[in-house]
Amino acid sequence: MKEAIATLLKKEVLLKKSEIKKLIETPPSPEMGDYAFPCFSLSKQFKKNPNQIAEELKNKIKFPRQIEKIEVSGAYLNFFVNRKIFAKNLVNQILKQKNNFGKKKFNLKRMVEFSQPNTHKSFHVGHIRGTSLGESLARIAEFFGEKVIRANYSGDTGMHIAKWIWCYKKYHSKEKLKKDESWIALIYVDAVKKLSANEKFQKEVDMVNKKIEDKSDKEINALWKKTRQLSIDSWKKIYKELNTHFDMHYFESEVEKRGKEITKELVKKGIAKISDGATIIDFEEQGLGVLVFLRRDGTVLYAGKDLALAEKKVEKKMDWYIYVVADEQNLYLKQIFKTLELMKFKEVKKFHHVSFGLVKLPEGKMSSRTGENILYSNFLKEVTDFAKRRIKERTPKIKNNELEKRALIISVAAIKYSMLKQRSSKNIIFKKQDALNFEGDTGPYLLYSYARAGSILRKTKSKNKQFKIKQLNQNEIKIIKKLSQFPEVVLNAYSNFNPSLIANYSYHLAQIFNEFYHACPVIGSEQESFRLALVKSFKHVLENSLNLLGIETLEKM
Ligand code: ARG
Repeated sequence: MKEAIATLLKKEVLLKKSEIKKLIETPPSPEMGDYAFPCFSLSKQFKKNPNQIAEELKNKIKFPRQIEKIEVSGAYLNFFVNRKIFAKNLVNQILKQKNNFGKKKFNLKRMVEFSQPNTHKSFHVGHIRGTSLGESLARIAEFFGEKVIRANYSGDTGMHIAKWIWCYKKYHSKEKLKKDESWIALIYVDAVKKLSANEKFQKEVDMVNKKIEDKSDKEINALWKKTRQLSIDSWKKIYKELNTHFDMHYFESEVEKRGKEITKELVKKGIAKISDGATIIDFEEQGLGVLVFLRRDGTVLYAGKDLALAEKKVEKKMDWYIYVVADEQNLYLKQIFKTLELMKFKEVKKFHHVSFGLVKLPEGKMSSRTGENILYSNFLKEVTDFAKRRIKERTPKIKNNELEKRALIISVAAIKYSMLKQRSSKNIIFKKQDALNFEGDTGPYLLYSYARAGSILRKTKSKNKQFKIKQLNQNEIKIIKKLSQFPEVVLNAYSNFNPSLIANYSYHLAQIFNEFYHACPVIGSEQESFRLALVKSFKHVLENSLNLLGIETLEKM
């Protein structure tokens, strides 16, 4: 509708359509119309005062049936939409386009790097946030017709692996190797514990590290390969549960060698320097600290590998390269992008960091380095157990396999929604009681609203798709308005890398729907055919929103 009003105005004023759209406001109360256009900025063109301009425009504009009337209030032109025509067009449009409602086709290609667990370490709650965020960003881009490569990047070399292998050989060699992320993580946690208890052990770990690097020890090399693969395989189950998948998986081990080479080139070009034996770039002048590429012993650090990774990524010739990485690495990624600029690596303008904050549990921070670390599977089990109890309270007779299925979908919805509804930069505290509440701003509430719409639709036998609108009440008008905002909301989420806009929108939409549902009978009412169409439209749009958040829906709850 905004679009249509902008088109009308465009004929009369010397502003770009996009500028007009930006100026259009929503009046503070419905008696003042549905849209308002302020005429202040037109004084230049018309050389009159804005109130006069508004009067003149009002008389000039020939408006279509969808607009009932235009009124002037001070310097504002207030547009009153013909609600019945608007509602009918919108509902018909949604029912026709279904899950394509709001779609646009941008011919772009984007790589989204996200999740990035390291082998031989835990997959923890922070990874769930990054994974949910990355998957949602990928889906939003796909919604706008982009070709998306979902890329993962894992640390599979370095000191943490040496610690793991050392600890396994020394203390756990009798245990069978397991494709289980928590078992793998616990060995790592144990290694850290053992090492902090005895300083002398680090020497042994250094030996293992050297052997891994120069591949001189067959047994250690075989163990590295095998356990690395176990980690990778253990993620498959996690990604399935989290409704995600990857098209590419980069590993630090594949960019290590090239990382070293690039770093040496940087020294030759005078971009990096040797300081105290290490290779560094000093960004102090730009206020960005110092970035170290090579250690004194010549081993390559994380930063060197990231330069090589960038080179590898751009082989894919994308329009965008998104890094979904926790905010601990904000400064680091600035340094990396800056280094790429100094290297005259032109694609760096296509690189973009989407940063995200910590996930805390009420008990405190989680870190894979400590014993309090919350592993994915423990966390998910705790949440699903809680969900099962909730579901059983509501549906005591539920069959076991149905219970399992629903509990997983509801739990993942609860977790993802609680993470995505916040701006990604915010730290969050995950409380399972809150996230799993069936009322309020939660994933289960949204699923529940969706299922409720489904149950209304199942009650009707009429196949009639035609509907007539006799009259619209306030509840109906509210849903119509909210539904009509969907395309704009998703577009905003897309341009701002911000799925929380869609999450917040879904919540408000569901709230309005539930108010409608309580106030207006559907089946058997005089307005049955229209209200059914409205419920159906709501269901499409909510499903569409949840889908963009990577949240699966349930027909029954
Ligand atoms: N695996 C890394 C970590 O655990 C995150 C990777 C971030 N991506 C990157 N290109 N540096 O910290």
